Amino acid sequence: MLSNAATVSLWTDTAQVPSFPPLDGDTSADVCVVGGGIAGLTSAYLLLKEGKSVVLVEALQPGAGETGRTTAHFMPPDERYFEVAKRFGDAGAAQMRDSFERATALVESIVETERIECDFSRLDGYLVPAAPGDSEIIDREHACTQRLGAAVTRLLRVPGLDWDTGPALCFHNQAQFHPVKYLAGLVRAIGRLGGRIYGDTRARDVEGADVITEKGRVSASAVVVATNTPFNNRFVLHTKVAPYHSYVVGLKVPRGALEPFLLWDTGDPYYYVRLDNQRAPRPFDILVVGGQDHKTGQESTPQHRWDEIEAWTRARFPQAEEVMYRWSGEVMEPADGVAYMGRNPADRGNVFVITGDSGTGMTHCTAGAMLVTDLIVGRANPWVSLYDPGRTPLRGLGEFAKEQANVAAQYTDWLQGGEVTSPDRIPPGEGALIREGLKLVAVHRAEDGKLTFLSAACPHMGCAVHWNTAEKSWDCPCHGSRFDVAGNVLHGPSNAPLGPAGPKRE
Ligand code: FES
Repeated sequence: MLSNAATVSLWTDTAQVPSFPPLDGDTSADVCVVGGGIAGLTSAYLLLKEGKSVVLVEALQPGAGETGRTTAHFMPPDERYFEVAKRFGDAGAAQMRDSFERATALVESIVETERIECDFSRLDGYLVPAAPGDSEIIDREHACTQRLGAAVTRLLRVPGLDWDTGPALCFHNQAQFHPVKYLAGLVRAIGRLGGRIYGDTRARDVEGADVITEKGRVSASAVVVATNTPFNNRFVLHTKVAPYHSYVVGLKVPRGALEPFLLWDTGDPYYYVRLDNQRAPRPFDILVVGGQDHKTGQESTPQHRWDEIEAWTRARFPQAEEVMYRWSGEVMEPADGVAYMGRNPADRGNVFVITGDSGTGMTHCTAGAMLVTDLIVGRANPWVSLYDPGRTPLRGLGEFAKEQANVAAQYTDWLQGGEVTSPDRIPPGEGALIREGLKLVAVHRAEDGKLTFLSAACPHMGCAVHWNTAEKSWDCPCHGSRFDVAGNVLHGPSNAPLGPAGPKRE
């Protein structure tokens, strides 16, 4: 499968989503969905079930984006209910709880209805303190979940583990699955329902409710932009979400040595754990542990983050054997801790967005697909106000200001010298920035020594991209765009490739 990164996740290594040819000229449908991850495919599926005709366009191939690079937990909001209640009241936190529970139930019912073999299972999830002083967070979350009537039990420690986790909250009836197998099942169902999917078809713009792609125009009555971060909205939403990279390690454990569970701690960034015991032709399970998040594009040599996760895991799980997988993925963090899902504030037409899914992408994106489907078919939905993309970030003003200052600081790169003074200093397989007069040039040296020179200016809003040695990509530190070594877009919001560096070189 095509992917947007150099590393391979457990999920993309063990399942495949069918590929589709590109759009071939103009077409039309009731709804055009942009993006072939869980948000886009679920939206397409639900809209088809409502009798709408649907065209879905994907810049790479379905499943090649961030869904296959998650750990596919269905868990409570990582922002925590008591924080949501502080900003949106108990009523807002109750709506979020309702959306998460109904989203998880919808996935379960789609798995059953469509007979998707994706290792879906219900299981308990545990919130544990990252440090002894964090037990206050456990108490506050417990008090809030009691007010909300959630099925949560406070325990002295997580049962069945070798390490003493300290006081834990057990969230009953959470879920996990294999995300790529699930997407493959959704794709099959969409085909059966008459939906049309086009791969290798990058959307360039939205005009009214029409989507302009590089392969033709899709005329529609409504558009769902489900591309992790919207490509069609240069200013408004990009100031309200911040791109973060998260790292994951998969370690072999003897089959049955651990019972399936979900676990996440109170750290910031936090560690998150699940067990993959899929019925695969292999005699062992895989312990999947993530964490060590940082702003996308703001660390060039992040390999040590995988080492930190491995050390954290080995200190707590003596069952862990060798490392089988290392990968990373990008998440969009909303300024006030709640996703942006609904009518796009920058468009007058029927344009809908799903973004800001934070560390709970499976749940948020499924809830987002339910919400935009209701809006498109004209049905009332109780979550519209909570997730309104047009809301001001006043409730997360401190975080909003911090992220804006961080973005502004990235533009000072243009005042700095290059990272190296000559291409000779770039090792094979790596890249670096070189200053040429007023310009910064992104230079990559292939393993065979061939050099590629590109403008370092991100086409979105002009920040200088940085080389990522782990994923072998040029990453933008402002809003999270990513580009391959040839400058092609791997991840928006940029919808155009890196430009040429200037005069032709050898
Ligand atoms: Fe906005 Fe690069 S993603 S400037």
